[in-house]
Amino acid sequence: MQKLIINGGRRLGGEIKVQGAKNSALPILAGCVLAGEKVKLYNIPELSDVFAALRILSCLGVRCTYENGCVTADPTVIESVCVPDALMREMRSSIVFLGAVLARTGECRLTFPGGCELGPRPIDMHIRALRQLGVSITEKYGELICSCPHGVKGTVINLPFPSVGATENIMLCASMAEGETVINNAAREPEIEDLAGFLRTIGAKVRVSPSGTVRIKGVKTLHGGEYTVMPDRICAATFMAAAAAAGGEITLKGTVPSHLNAVTEVFEQAGCLVADSEDKIFLSAKKPLRAVREIQTLPYPAFPTDAQAPIMAMLTKAEGTSVITENIFTSRFRHVDELARMGADISTEGRTAVIRGVKKLYGAKVMAPDLRGGAALVCAALAAEGETTVTNIKLIDRGYENIEKTLTELGADIRREKS
Ligand code: EPZ
Repeated sequence: MQKLIINGGRRLGGEIKVQGAKNSALPILAGCVLAGEKVKLYNIPELSDVFAALRILSCLGVRCTYENGCVTADPTVIESVCVPDALMREMRSSIVFLGAVLARTGECRLTFPGGCELGPRPIDMHIRALRQLGVSITEKYGELICSCPHGVKGTVINLPFPSVGATENIMLCASMAEGETVINNAAREPEIEDLAGFLRTIGAKVRVSPSGTVRIKGVKTLHGGEYTVMPDRICAATFMAAAAAAGGEITLKGTVPSHLNAVTEVFEQAGCLVADSEDKIFLSAKKPLRAVREIQTLPYPAFPTDAQAPIMAMLTKAEGTSVITENIFTSRFRHVDELARMGADISTEGRTAVIRGVKKLYGAKVMAPDLRGGAALVCAALAAEGETTVTNIKLIDRGYENIEKTLTELGADIRREKS
């Protein structure tokens, strides 16, 4: 068990490179199963979730190596169609292996996925869509037994909600289907275009339209290729929230500023100066922060649910009252009680949190409730007076590559210790 010890009150400054996107890397790693030849992936972050995905690939018979952000995967021979329960439980993204394994082999056996506790996270949309593609799915003692005896057949799928994971699973499964698949009301998150970019690199015919339609013309085989994963927009938002909360001036390089438009607007309302050029974002927080207009988390291009907790941490010290409504997950305010231990004044009612800015936060012993909630506690700790200990940081390690090293580069006083 490890913990982070943070001495708050230091302004942040300097330039860092943002890591590759976890939520792109994971479905792209699943997509390696589709390739008939070697795949090389760059900008893959060194995260526990990435290693879980590599273990799943190994179980399937895909030989993988990871070195300095580069994954080499050789999926020439798929030896197994089963994903063990222990690996399924390690992360939510394990479910996107279903579409890929089915497309490549015609069958797959796995159990329900794990992942951060953010409220119920069903996979009904995934299952319904795969059935529409001709997959037979039966559930026995918690195991999903899936096969497509007559092959995957392209069709029109109207998603009831633009689910990111369901869109990815359909794209993976439909890449080798007979005929064309159209996904209406598909997710529009940048990670979807990144997955499409990877699939095109290995020979798939995928088009993503900005209006939320994805078209996939199935092909018989896919080949190998090299692909660089996009930068992590949520890590960028987190480090911006950290700098805004603690004060200071930071530059993030290796970003796509347009992916952060909805988030940038909130920093500007709070009184920060944000500028960008090419792949750089500059944030300056010199003045005390002020409250912002109501934030509603919604599918992209609106404000992302994954940035909700770090932004809330930043708003705890903003002058005035801010309101955040979480529309994507039913239980994504578990960081609120932990922030309260540090002196934050937040009340919640259902999906809405009301944050009344306080003059000071104080160091405390807190526990990461989930990945982004944990990152929010780190942001608050940097802005607090005194020492904060954050435990349960294995959840933070799921999404942030060596967070203490990155923040130390920005001048923070933060270290990792064994509990
Ligand atoms: C992805 O999760 C991300 N994870 C999440 O990132 C992110 O919060 C989420 O998209 C929303 O942007 C990865 O990409 C690995 P969804 P996913 O399917 O695909 C409901 C992070 O911190 N739903 O778009 O699981 C679901 O319960 C995280 O990095 C169904 O009801 O999200 C939720 O309320 C955590 N049935 C909503 O839709 C389904 O079959 C959005 O889920 C599927 C989803």
